[in-house]
Amino acid sequence: MARRSQSRINPLERFSPYIKKRMEEEPDILLTTQWDGLKSRGYGGALLKDSLRKQQYSPLQKVGSPSHYQTLQDRDTDELILEKLTSDYNLSNLVCTDSAKDQLINFLEEHRHSDLLSKYQLPISNKLLLHGPSGCGKTLASYVIAGELQKMMIVVNLGAIVSSKLGETSKNLAKIFRKAAQEDCIIFIDEFDSLGKVRDYSQDHGEMKRVVNTILQLFDYLPQSSMVICATNQKDMLDDALLRRFDLAISLELPDQQQIQELIQLVLKEGKFTFDRKVSMKKLIEHAQGLSYYSIQKTLINAVKRSLFAMKDTRALKPKINTQVWQDLLIQEKEALAIE
Ligand SMILES: Nc1ncnc2c1ncn2[C@@H]1O[C@H](COP(=O)(O)OP(=O)(O)OP(=O)(O)O)[C@@H](O)[C@H]1O
Ligand SMILES: [Mg+2]
Repeated sequence: MARRSQSRINPLERFSPYIKKRMEEEPDILLTTQWDGLKSRGYGGALLKDSLRKQQYSPLQKVGSPSHYQTLQDRDTDELILEKLTSDYNLSNLVCTDSAKDQLINFLEEHRHSDLLSKYQLPISNKLLLHGPSGCGKTLASYVIAGELQKMMIVVNLGAIVSSKLGETSKNLAKIFRKAAQEDCIIFIDEFDSLGKVRDYSQDHGEMKRVVNTILQLFDYLPQSSMVICATNQKDMLDDALLRRFDLAISLELPDQQQIQELIQLVLKEGKFTFDRKVSMKKLIEHAQGLSYYSIQKTLINAVKRSLFAMKDTRALKPKINTQVWQDLLIQEKEALAIE
C-alpha cells in the first residue's frame, strides 16, 4: 500500500519544476494542466488528495481541488483586504445634494438594467470616484451602493497594498482585482490618494508610473459585471490619467442648511426626541454650518445623551433635547477643528 501510493506521487514530483514555473505565471492554467495530466495517467481524485496531503508544505499544494486552491488564494489576498461586507444601507441613509443623488441613482440604474445595456452593446459605467471633505459620506455612499445592489464589497487595505518593494504594489492590486472579478464583488478603494505614497517610498520614479499604469490597465480590462469605487478627500493628488478613467465622479460636500435639516430628521427619525426650543432651529442650523455631516451627527447624539442624563424623569413620552447643550457642542467642535 505504501509503495503504491508512493509510486503515484512520483509523477507529481517529476513535474515540479515545470509546475512551479507555471504556477507563478498563471495558476488557473496550471490547475487544469496538472489535473488533466494526472487524469490521463489514471490517477483518481482520492489519490491526488492523498498526494496533496503528503506534500502539504511544498508549493505543489496549490494543485488540487478547487476548494483547496481557493483557500490558498484567500490567504494570498487576505491581508490586502480590510473587510469583506454586505450592507443593508439604502439611498435614504445618505443626505446629499439633488445632483449627487441623481448621479448615484443613475449609476445604480445602469447596474440594475445591465442586461438591457449589453443587449444594445452600451458600456456600463462601473468605475466610480467619490470625493469631498472628510465626514461627508464617501464611505457611507459606497455602503449604500453595495446595499442597493445587494452585492458583496471588498474593502481594499491600501496600507497593505502599497509596498516599498519594487513592483509589489502593482502585483497586489492585480491580485485584488482578479479576486473581485472571480467572486463578483464590488471593489472599494478608500483613501485612494494614498497611492501617492508610492512616490515617497520609492526613489525610482518609474515605480509610481508602473502603479498608475497597472491601475489604468486594471480599469480598462475591468469586466462589465464588476465595479470599482474609489474614495478620496484629496482629488487633486490624483494623477490626471487616472482621473480620466473614472466613468463618474460624485462630489459629496459639506451640508448646506437644507441638508443639515434633513440630517437632523434622519438622526432623530424615530421621533423619540424633540427639541426643547429654547434656541430657534434656524440659529442652531447656522451654528452647524461649516461642519461635516459626521461632526453634526456626533454632536447631536452627544446632546441627546447629555439631555437624557440630565432628566429627572426619563419616563417622559418624548424626552427633550437641550438645544443649548447642542449649540455649545457645535461651537466646541468648530473650535476644535479650527472652523470659523
Ligand atoms: N451625507 C451623509 N448623510 C448621512 N450621514 C452621513 C453623511 N456623511 C457622513 N454621515 C455620517 O458620518 C459617518 C462618517 O461618514 P463617512 O465615513 O462616510 O465619511 P467619509 O466622507 O468617508 O470621510 P473620510 O474622508 O474621513 O473617510 C457616516 O457613517 C454617517 O453616520
Ligand atoms: Mg471614508
